[in-house]
Amino acid sequence: MPAQQPPAIHVEGLEKSYKDLTVLRGVDFEVERGSIFALLGSNGAGKTTVVKILSTLLKADAGTARVNGFDVSTQAADVRESISLTGQFAAVDEILSGRENLILVARLRRLDAPEKIADELLERFSLTDTGSRRVSTYSGGMRRRLDIAMSLMGDPPVIFLDEPTTGLDPEARIEVWEGVKQLAKRGTTVLLTTQYLEEAEQLADRISILHEGRIIVNGTLAELRQLLPPAKVEYVEKQPTLEDVFFAVINNGKNDAAKVSSVGTTNKEQ
Ligand SMILES: Nc1ncnc2c1ncn2[C@@H]1O[C@H](COP(=O)(O)OP(=O)(O)O)[C@@H](O)[C@H]1O
Ligand SMILES: [Mg+2]
Repeated sequence: MPAQQPPAIHVEGLEKSYKDLTVLRGVDFEVERGSIFALLGSNGAGKTTVVKILSTLLKADAGTARVNGFDVSTQAADVRESISLTGQFAAVDEILSGRENLILVARLRRLDAPEKIADELLERFSLTDTGSRRVSTYSGGMRRRLDIAMSLMGDPPVIFLDEPTTGLDPEARIEVWEGVKQLAKRGTTVLLTTQYLEEAEQLADRISILHEGRIIVNGTLAELRQLLPPAKVEYVEKQPTLEDVFFAVINNGKNDAAKVSSVGTTNKEQ
C-alpha cells in the first residue's frame, strides 16, 4: 500500500452558476478515506450541485474535484466506477419485494451470486424479515435503507447520500442513521448532505457548512463547538449545540450581532 493514499474526495475552488444564478463561489474541502463527511446547508445552498459535480452528472465552471484519486472532469469513467449515488427520492420498484429489487440490481450489474449478495445486504440493513414483502408495503425508513443497500452493490469505495432522511419521520431517520453508521464501519467513505443539524451531529466525523456559495466552517463537531464559548447559565455549564454554531456562523457579519452573542446562552432542553 502506498504510504500516502490520496483523500477519498478533494475539492478545490469549485465554482458553478446556473445562468445568472451563482451557486458555488469557490468551494474547498477534503474527505478522508473511511470517514463520514456532512455537507450541511439550508435549502438551496448548493449541496446537490456539489454532489452532482462530484458524481460527474454536472460540470463545474471552475476549480478541481478528485474522487478516489480521479479527476471528475478528465477521468469521469473512473470516478463513476468508484462511487454510488443515492438521491433524495428512493428509486426502488414498488411492485417487487425488497429482495427482488436487490437481485435485479445485482443481475443488471452482472455480479456473481445475486441471491447471496441480496441476502447479505438485507441482513446488513436489518431488512431480512421484510425482504420478501412488496416494497409498496414498506415504511419510509425501510425504503430508504433498501435504496442505500441497492447503491452498495459492487462495494463502491465512496458513497454520496443526498439528503438521505429528508421527509422521513424521526423513527425512520434513526433507522437510516444506523445504516449509514454501518457503512462507515466497513471502511466506505460517506459524503452526505443534510439540512438537519442533528443528523450531522449524530453521524459525521467532519462537518462543513455551505453558505452563500462557500464553505464557511469546516471541522469536527468538537472543533465547531469551540467557535462558541460554552454557555453559562447560573451553575450549569452547557456546550453549544451544532445548531447554536450553525446559526451563529451564518448570521456572523450580518446586522444580527446581538443574536450571535447570545447564541449558546439559551438553556435548551437536551
Ligand atoms: N438546473 C438548474 N437550473 C437553474 N437553477 C438551478 C438548477 N439546479 C439548481 N438550481 C438552483 O441552484 C441553487 C442551489 O440548488 P441545489 O444545489 O439543489 O441546493 P440544495 O441541494 O442545497 O438545496 C438553488 O437556488 C436552485 O434553485
Ligand atoms: Mg438538494
